[in-house]
Amino acid sequence: MAENELAEQLIDLTGKVAIVTGAGAGIGREIARWLARAGCDVAINDLDEERTARGVAAVVAEGRRGLAVVADVRESGAVESMIARTISGLGRLDIAVNNVGLMGDAPQAHFTDLVAEDVRSVVDRNLVATILCCVAEAKALKEQGEGGVILNVSSGESTRPALRLAAYGAAKAGINHLTQTMATELGPDGIRVLSIAPGTTLTETVRPVFDDEHVERVIESLPLRRMTEPEELGRMAVFLASDLARCITGQFILADAGAWLSRTRPPIGDADVRP
Ligand SMILES: NC(=O)c1ccc[n+]([C@@H]2O[C@H](COP(=O)([O-])OP(=O)(O)OC[C@H]3O[C@@H](n4cnc5c(N)ncnc54)[C@H](O)[C@@H]3O)[C@@H](O)[C@H]2O)c1
Repeated sequence: MAENELAEQLIDLTGKVAIVTGAGAGIGREIARWLARAGCDVAINDLDEERTARGVAAVVAEGRRGLAVVADVRESGAVESMIARTISGLGRLDIAVNNVGLMGDAPQAHFTDLVAEDVRSVVDRNLVATILCCVAEAKALKEQGEGGVILNVSSGESTRPALRLAAYGAAKAGINHLTQTMATELGPDGIRVLSIAPGTTLTETVRPVFDDEHVERVIESLPLRRMTEPEELGRMAVFLASDLARCITGQFILADAGAWLSRTRPPIGDADVRP
């Protein structure tokens, strides 16, 4: 058997329907592209209409159906309608990737400079949005009765002190914990739940936050001497969503070029940078 025939047999998501939140750009768009490449039809969620259309185009370019589901995933009504539109538009739901996150509009601050409004914005965008999506997705998967996979995008910052990103690190650690609880509760329904934890990934949102010198220092601190690429998270999502990973649930999987091993990511400087 040729090697690629074996790969096709092992990873074939044809006939499956996925939804990816925040899929108009960055990591989410790559995850959507790779799920489509593996055979899925994909609903693309984003806040921004133009970005959503770009995400849909990436799926269609892989020869699959893409559906735009514009919604603010911090709002429960919008999330419920997003899942309902996905099922009515693409026929079912099998794989959900909750990717919306990042540091919101909050500046990176020393712990004692944290203010309530910024903390709420970060926790809302990362943890609250993920929980709301998970509830709606889990309900839909249970109702369908054929199992499924939910992937929550966490962060390497959830595994170590997150200097100047305390609320973000705490929210992402909350996602890891949520994943464990959900995996336990939903396992008997054949629903697997996992967290994907990227290391620093230079998406269009994150790249402007760092100057070249900081990028070099981060790379130097990583065992692999390279950063994670958005498309590598797409490949990982395909693996975790496929039957190759069918006995894995409740875990968070780091894709951080070894950052966790060195645990020495240089802190982001004092500059008033915004992600
Ligand atoms: N890039 C990194 O270095 C890095 C590292 C670790 C974890 N992560 C996590 O990966 C995920 C994606 O990061 P990214 O760098 O690709 O982000 P990004 O900013 O490039 O893309 C996020 C997308 O989400 C959309 N979005 C934002 N708020 C939304 C909302 N409320 N409802 C719907 N859509 C919304 C944005 O419009 C954008 O298109 C985030 O959860 C982030 O925390 C990123």
